[in-house]
Amino acid sequence: MTLDPKDWDAFRTSAHAMLDASIDKLANAAEGRVWTPLPEAEKANIQANLPIQGVSHDVMQKQLESFLPYGVGNTHPRFFGWVHGAGAPSGLMAEIAAAAMNVNAGGRDHVAPVVERQVIEWSAEIMGLPADTSGLIVSGTSMATIIALKVARDQAMNTAQGQLVGYTSTQTHSCAAQAFDILGLGRDHLRKIACNDALEIDVHALQTAITADKAAGFVPFLIVGTAGAVNMGAIDDLEGLAEIAKAEGLWLHIDGAFGATAVIGEHARARLTGLSRADSLAFDFHKWLQVNYDAGCVLIRDEAAHRGSFSDRPEYLHGSERGLAGGAFWAVDYGPELSRGFRALKVWAHMKEHGVEALAAVIDRNIEQAQYLENLVKASPKLEMLAPVPLNICCFRYKFDGDNDALNEEIVVQLQESGIAVPSTTIINGQLAIRVNLTNHRTKESDLDMLVEAVLRIGGELT
Ligand SMILES: Cc1ncc(COP(=O)(O)O)c(C=O)c1O
Repeated sequence: MTLDPKDWDAFRTSAHAMLDASIDKLANAAEGRVWTPLPEAEKANIQANLPIQGVSHDVMQKQLESFLPYGVGNTHPRFFGWVHGAGAPSGLMAEIAAAAMNVNAGGRDHVAPVVERQVIEWSAEIMGLPADTSGLIVSGTSMATIIALKVARDQAMNTAQGQLVGYTSTQTHSCAAQAFDILGLGRDHLRKIACNDALEIDVHALQTAITADKAAGFVPFLIVGTAGAVNMGAIDDLEGLAEIAKAEGLWLHIDGAFGATAVIGEHARARLTGLSRADSLAFDFHKWLQVNYDAGCVLIRDEAAHRGSFSDRPEYLHGSERGLAGGAFWAVDYGPELSRGFRALKVWAHMKEHGVEALAAVIDRNIEQAQYLENLVKASPKLEMLAPVPLNICCFRYKFDGDNDALNEEIVVQLQESGIAVPSTTIINGQLAIRVNLTNHRTKESDLDMLVEAVLRIGGELT
């Protein structure tokens, strides 16, 4: 019994049909609805009995093709929700190659570790970190944060005794507190420091908190700064944080999930120089760099510290000088996963195919578009801004004397359900905002015009 096709020609025909359908989807990404909920009939197709007998390639191809319209919608130019990248057609080819090779990229001497290490070197160069910076390609910033904070914790535990505490702002993504929880540090021991009016961490309040914790017998070990906060894109004073970390002997981790990648462009670069002073940095390729899901990265300045936190190879994983068990970079030495796919390939291929210049142009254009949208909002007497626009996120609302939060929530749901656009919501200073995030290389200014028109129309109908 083999699982290879009985008829390779028939398989080839089905696979080509799948590729054609996928290319058609991407070539027409700007057409039609943004989000389309999965119809009941499709759901029933999925929720079938355990398949005992299989189906032909042809049947499976048609089934897979029928799923294509029912994703999140982030390939569409009017997807503005949360922080989702739009991906790129080039990802298809790398994914096909990776599927054909079916490598386990946990270690050993083959193409995957060489590609992965190259992506890490490029990433370090982009962020201004030394060429020998350590790192790993992971599923996303959440996993990258767990890895980075484990290294930081282990380093602190080498020298300090007592309850470790870390510091971050109230705007930091929840993955930092979750990492504290997973690492057994306790969520409460990640202190949430207040922000200034720009929603950046208040560095004076941070200094005060560190001093108070020390006086109370706690052991400060970490500052988590944010380059591009999830709610509205604030960039902390990274240089200021680096100064405090240096003076206090703390580890500086930066969550740069999407914002750090803006360092390749012109508009935000000057505010991101502090990235190069991080001890560790987490960011994503699948957000603003437009690599297909999923691909994130953790960079750790101190390779020995990184390796020391994860490398523990038993006899069945011993490396060798020669043969397949050779190879200098084994991913298993730098993270918790042994078996892992060839995620780095699509990142390497994407960066090679498009080049940093084109990726930077996308980022700068999105920053300009966020300002364009801010101007549209300010020009409309029915709308008001709820937060500054430091980067690529615009938070605003429809003005209403009644239950404003409920109204704006309903506007967002109607935008999504009508298929016109997908913004998300967030809370800024206690008020619900329509949140428009621009990490999309397909968005045009006319898409933002259409969004504002729809908000005004729906808001008018509801009030
Ligand atoms: C600032 C920030 N940090 C962390 C994350 C989590 O990243 P991921 O979803 O790749 O795990 C996000 C996700 O949007 C984010 O915006």
